[in-house]
Amino acid sequence: MHFVNCYADANRADAYATLEFANTYYLAYRDLPAIFAEQVKGTRALDFGCGAGRSTRFLRKLGFEVTGVDVSEDMLRIARAMDPSGDYRLVPGDNFDQLEVAAFDLVLSAFTFDNTPGTMKTRIFCDLGKLLAPKGTIVSLVSSPEIYTHEWASFMTKDFPENATAGSGDVVRIVVTDHQDRRPVEDILWTDESYRAVYREANLQAIQVLRPLAKGDEPYSWVNETTIAPWVIYVLRRAM
Ligand SMILES: C[S@@+](CC[C@H](N)C(=O)[O-])C[C@H]1O[C@@H](n2cnc3c(N)ncnc32)[C@H](O)[C@@H]1O
Repeated sequence: MHFVNCYADANRADAYATLEFANTYYLAYRDLPAIFAEQVKGTRALDFGCGAGRSTRFLRKLGFEVTGVDVSEDMLRIARAMDPSGDYRLVPGDNFDQLEVAAFDLVLSAFTFDNTPGTMKTRIFCDLGKLLAPKGTIVSLVSSPEIYTHEWASFMTKDFPENATAGSGDVVRIVVTDHQDRRPVEDILWTDESYRAVYREANLQAIQVLRPLAKGDEPYSWVNETTIAPWVIYVLRRAM
């Protein structure tokens, strides 16, 4: 399958850079500080698919010493402009040779695997596992399959009824309504079962899986967020 990373696009990158932590994105990030406090020992972090740096700056504010990597130069250009003292690097072809092996206490991947074809996932998770310090943790935040078939405070999917019949590995479409670029984002649907198969092949085990729901008392106009989880958070360690 030929799949184009829609974030390798200057206009999309500019729009994406305006997103912060409101609406449906609030739920993506809400539980991360508690997960890190409980599961991560040490402060060295890799932000895999750092984009315009939102997730990297989030980690830096929590006290992590972070390297952000991405395959989109358009995204990295903005990340560096918004955070000149940050460490942001291009990793063409997901070649991690420039990164120190067995060094990172935390690898965060926020939404990156939504844009990664299934054929690449196992190889990338294997390589990320090699970068982990002995007791290091991967936190992989991804879209739930349900995000593509419902409406949300931050997203619209009703124009894409074909999403309902998509299977794991198929392209699905979603519009981000929190920013100016209303062109659909093309993602790859990947089910929980498929993620678990990838983790097994990459010699990783899921020690925690969270599906964050809104409580209802947040200052956002929730649509389905109180009853259906838009995100899945996998907390992973190397299997023994
Ligand atoms: C939806 S953005 C999320 C950015 C950031 N993590 C955040 O939370 O704002 C996904 C990012 O993953 C990057 N990406 C997609 N496939 C990738 C890959 N194979 N390796 C590294 N980055 C990738 C895209 O270029 C894009 O910047």
